[in-house]
Amino acid sequence: MIRVATTSFLFAAITFSTIAPVVSLSQTPARSVVDFNNHWKFIEGDEPGAAQATFDDSKWQSVTVPHDWSIAGPVDQNNPSGPAGAFFPTGFAWYRKTFSLAEKDAHRRVFVVFDGVMANSDVWINGFHLGQRPNGYVSFYYDLTGHVQFGAGARNVIAVRCDTSEQPASRWYEGAGIYRPVRLVLMQGVHLEPWSTFVTALVATAGRATVRTQTTVVNDSGATRRAALEVTLTAPDGSPAGSFVTPEQTIAEGAQVAFTAEISIPAPQLWDIDHPALYRARARVKIFGPAAGYSTIADDELAPFGIREFHFNPDTGFWLNGRNFKIKGVAIHADGGAFGIAGPTAVWERRLLALRALGVNAIRTAHNPPSPEFLDLCDRLGFLVMDEMFDCWTVGKNPYDFHLYFDPWSSIDTRDTVRRDRSHPSIILWSAGNEIHDTPHAELAHNILARLIAVFHENDPSRPVTQALLRPNVSHDYDNGLADMLDVVGQNYRENEILAAHEQKPSRSIIGTENTMDRAPWLALRDHAAYSGQFLWSGIDYLGEAGKWPLISRMDGLLDRIALPHPRAFERQSWWAATPNVHIARRVAAAERAAIDPGYESIPPALQETLLLDWNPRNTTPHSESIEVYTNCEEVELLLNNESLGRQKLHQDASPLTWNVPYAPGSLKAVAYNQGFPVAEDELRTAGKAARVVLSTDRTTLSAGSDVLIVKATAVDERSIRVPDANLEVEFTVSGPAQVVATDNGSIVDHEPFLLPHHHLSGGRAIAFLRATSRGAIQVHAAAAGLTRGETQFRATPAQPANSARTF
Ligand code: GAL
Repeated sequence: MIRVATTSFLFAAITFSTIAPVVSLSQTPARSVVDFNNHWKFIEGDEPGAAQATFDDSKWQSVTVPHDWSIAGPVDQNNPSGPAGAFFPTGFAWYRKTFSLAEKDAHRRVFVVFDGVMANSDVWINGFHLGQRPNGYVSFYYDLTGHVQFGAGARNVIAVRCDTSEQPASRWYEGAGIYRPVRLVLMQGVHLEPWSTFVTALVATAGRATVRTQTTVVNDSGATRRAALEVTLTAPDGSPAGSFVTPEQTIAEGAQVAFTAEISIPAPQLWDIDHPALYRARARVKIFGPAAGYSTIADDELAPFGIREFHFNPDTGFWLNGRNFKIKGVAIHADGGAFGIAGPTAVWERRLLALRALGVNAIRTAHNPPSPEFLDLCDRLGFLVMDEMFDCWTVGKNPYDFHLYFDPWSSIDTRDTVRRDRSHPSIILWSAGNEIHDTPHAELAHNILARLIAVFHENDPSRPVTQALLRPNVSHDYDNGLADMLDVVGQNYRENEILAAHEQKPSRSIIGTENTMDRAPWLALRDHAAYSGQFLWSGIDYLGEAGKWPLISRMDGLLDRIALPHPRAFERQSWWAATPNVHIARRVAAAERAAIDPGYESIPPALQETLLLDWNPRNTTPHSESIEVYTNCEEVELLLNNESLGRQKLHQDASPLTWNVPYAPGSLKAVAYNQGFPVAEDELRTAGKAARVVLSTDRTTLSAGSDVLIVKATAVDERSIRVPDANLEVEFTVSGPAQVVATDNGSIVDHEPFLLPHHHLSGGRAIAFLRATSRGAIQVHAAAAGLTRGETQFRATPAQPANSARTF
């Protein structure tokens, strides 16, 4: 559930750790949210006694969260995480944070909210054990009231122990630590129940919307109270969009009462993938004093939401706001590449925009719930989301995975996640699980699925539930009733089977929850109206599931780890994107690049890239190259050094246009035509020797703090052509108030530390991620031996308040 505090206060940045920063509240607003991400102390390993308030942590490292300690490495083939975990380190780790609370807040309730701790976290306040949370992907909070001291001299200590020591615990890289934001929330005695506010459009048409806000008010004030809920809506442009005050209700001490407000909006702006209009609902709790007419605001929160109507139709597939289109989705894991699972929003934004350019309109969060920020981003950019809860139920896929905790925790995790996230307009499907190995045991699986569906629907009646079925014809899900428990039947791969299941029972709504990038699955989607969509495996190369050393990843993504499209992504673009596009790729035998790219020789042939985006074959003697051209245009002409090699028309079966081109160095160009006019072109040019490093950025400003600016270094020849086999080490240096916080080259056999300012190029490219410490002019240089160094500049702007948009 997203909420926005109307008043938020940032910690004063106190750098000397012996003094506990005071949570400074200049007045007492209804609700205060404190960014709790700075001034943590951290140590790897177990530290008996570290839960106690008086423990000496002065020698521990100072860190800021979000923090994935595992991504610092080093990768080692003997690490117990193994190929599944990309050979990164695992184990115990501790975090401690010392803070003070102002005396004047002594009457308030104090909560700490964690958006995600990997994994098996235990949390203590001043030595008191608050609780344990096995699942690393869910948000949780603790009520600190009664356990904290107030007054500038009184120190409080939060201690967090995380444990990824038992391995293997996952089929992919999971990271480790407090890897999502933390907040401290101070509320009055009468307050909204965390994650209780749910804003949804009951009616969403172009002419009118009815927006319902439901929430629950808790009375912990020590006396019976009378309260009402005031809801005001704000349109995307900030103008008022309606308001409502509920009748007063009496709430006994210790009780809680539900409130509902319905507001009608004429001519609303609908949230859509091409127009992701976001409204805001502000929910304020008014409490009434004994004197007539006296009222005060006890709590206040903001919930962004979108007005949209969607449904799945068994015959025609997916509909959003009266428009029928295919869900063109990709599955992605939670790691953000060089940042591990603590991937900053700016990194995800760049990745999502690169996917959008390929025609992707939907994300499956494989195989766990994402962060609230990720969902905010999808809301803002207009992506549809299938939000998935589990990769296993009671039958594990690894000895120490979540199957150990599934029975006691799965309903709680599902409930908390749904309540946290249910106002996000981007979410269109909940998924109860991926390729669940309980399904061959029909009774077991039916019982669990019934329980999970009940939790989803009780907490969010507005969305359908699906599941990524695994070989349903083997487990008989289509015949034993399991598939028909789902609102939308989802199946991984085997498109013929799901189409047959629809034919067997045409009342089933169907979706491909996981699909390969091949042409046949696309044709199955394209040519069957009932098939509502697909999610490709996968959108972005992720760490782990690597097979064997020296691989740390697989080349499964449309994008590589640094968000550059793999060549096959352009075939997808030709099928999925609407704007005219054309791309040329060279198809080669698997081992072609072995001798030139570092580590490439160790990639098993089946995983080697056989499509290349260059005109630099290793064989420079007379021979023919197999060329594939991907386009969505009517006709393409291919030209070698400006001589036409002929025109071809678009294939109706979506296969690429192919040419056998006699190799000659120079230029290979494709020009795409619609109605006889050139509308798109692509060119591959033969590169000479690397001469220079060029730097490029997709932004010119960076806000100080958690924002990240990405600089790409490319080795080019004298004529500015990328040199695909350049693999030199590049050193990034910065002048001005910024620093390089990570580097990467996207290679799946890369073992260089991500957190250093230098990296070898792969495919002639590497990326640096920069953060600014304050405002000012920044210059970045990138140097590689024997090449002219690259240079770029940008401006750092003042820090934006972190987390000001969120309370619980
Ligand atoms: C699928 C699975 C994914 C991933 C993929 C690799 O069956 O659901 O998580 O493992 O295979 O190809």
